[in-house]
Amino acid sequence: MSDELTTLAQDASPASTGAFPRRTFAIISHPDAGKTTLTEKLLLFGGAIREAGMVKARRERRNTRSDWMAIERQRGISVTSSVMTFTWHDVVFNLLDTPGHQDFSEDTYRTLTAVDAAVMVIDAARGIEAQTLKLFEVCRLRDIPIITFVNKIDREGQDPFSLLDEIANTLALDVCPLVWPVGMGGLFRGCWDIRANRPIGRVAPDGEPAEPVTIPDDQMADLRDAVELAGAYPAFDREAFLAGHLTPVVFGTALKDYGVLELLSLLAEHAPPPTTQRAEPHPVRAEQKSVTGFVFKVQANMDPNHRDRIAFTRICSGRFQRGMKLLHVRTGKPMAIQAPIFFFAQDRSLAEEAFPGDIIGIPNHGSLRVGDTLTEGETLRFTGIPSFAPEILRRVVLTDPMKAKQLRRALEDLAEEGVAQVFRPMLGADWIVGVVGALQLDVLQARIDAEYKIPIRFEPAPYVTARWISSPDPKRLKDFIEANQSTLGHDRDDSPVFLARDTFSLRFTAERWPEITFATTHQSA
Ligand code: G4P
Repeated sequence: MSDELTTLAQDASPASTGAFPRRTFAIISHPDAGKTTLTEKLLLFGGAIREAGMVKARRERRNTRSDWMAIERQRGISVTSSVMTFTWHDVVFNLLDTPGHQDFSEDTYRTLTAVDAAVMVIDAARGIEAQTLKLFEVCRLRDIPIITFVNKIDREGQDPFSLLDEIANTLALDVCPLVWPVGMGGLFRGCWDIRANRPIGRVAPDGEPAEPVTIPDDQMADLRDAVELAGAYPAFDREAFLAGHLTPVVFGTALKDYGVLELLSLLAEHAPPPTTQRAEPHPVRAEQKSVTGFVFKVQANMDPNHRDRIAFTRICSGRFQRGMKLLHVRTGKPMAIQAPIFFFAQDRSLAEEAFPGDIIGIPNHGSLRVGDTLTEGETLRFTGIPSFAPEILRRVVLTDPMKAKQLRRALEDLAEEGVAQVFRPMLGADWIVGVVGALQLDVLQARIDAEYKIPIRFEPAPYVTARWISSPDPKRLKDFIEANQSTLGHDRDDSPVFLARDTFSLRFTAERWPEITFATTHQSA
């Protein structure tokens, strides 16, 4: 890393910006909508990178993953780009990367448990796409406020009104357009600030003065009509936005630098500061004096010879200081946090201090799991960091039966890290692995091979999905388990799961046993 970058990283360091407000957010989108381009522009505004193309180059390397090396490299790269911290106008932004593309996995969902707001990027020509919808639904579960950025208005896109109606209808959200496109595609001239009633020119992140917008008369007349019609949408209401009922909409183009500054200002001005987090026995307010945090992602390090991992931990309250001894609530043991890490676009550094909303990486040897809580002594537990019912199940076939014990260890380790879920059917000696996205299987196989030297292959499992079962009536649960042994198993925490052979049997069984809950998500104890 160059000296220049070290300085940049230090400048942006949350330690030197303790008093600054925090905005911890993620960008959700369907592949190709422009997330990388927008991320890059935001980082440029924040001075966290110097030239466009840096994030993109990384992402491209990460996407060529035909062999183990590529996957390994991808893991290394994603460690550094999982959290990107930058400062703009005395606000510290923590941008959490949600891996998009094929590597859609539980990681993606879980990352959303650690943010206070999200930016939804939509391609103006394509509207709402499958992955946007999936991610949006996770945001909705947690009532995460969302700002919408309709990207690529420099290209031919759908009519802005159709786009707004599509967002409103598909997502059942109120939409409030704040920045309107002045033409699209060939007629694109710039943007219009609806509230201030003035044109918005190109504002490049490099500090060049904004370029003036010239709007021909006939286009101006159309624009006036459109803006008047747009007045029929609800006005911006911060309460409704914070409650996740209304999304402000900015039309822009990340590539051509229109609307990005407005998006950043909206985040700074209206996105929530670190919010109260769900926990038991009581929620944790960011203002609470004592330090608390939870692990939302665990990633193994580059070096397969050292089983060290980084636990990405969101600080929820208090002022964390390096060297603090925190209680690891699940095990009841104290943990001295000697070498916590901050992440920047280009680099990491030791975290001397961290504040609510900040993300620190805690190196450890496997003791920290996704969902774990750290406190200054309180025995509370953050909730709402779920496991998701896998959409793909496979039977693990061991080609060397002498390695059964090692396989168990490998699967348990990797399940802990969240690479895959592992189930043990109640009858038989099989291991079943479950994943949410197909790439997770490749990663699992490559890592078992490279890190544990166990040759395995996957075969279709006789199940299509898993559901965690429970019942308020313990006797009924016991009866159910006794009657359905052949389609039941346990997860890694020994919680019982129903392994459905097909969707029909799942529905049929659920109807026959109304007292049993078949859950698609689960929080480990
Ligand atoms: P992603 O991370 O969401 O997958 O999207 P990414 O930013 O990589 O953007 C996908 C493609 O869309 C890229 O083109 C990018 O340049 C382009 N793009 C992003 N924002 C805009 C925009 O506002 N206007 C226009 N016209 N294009 C935009 P590509 O051809 O795949 O890559 P590249 O070779 O151009 O970098």
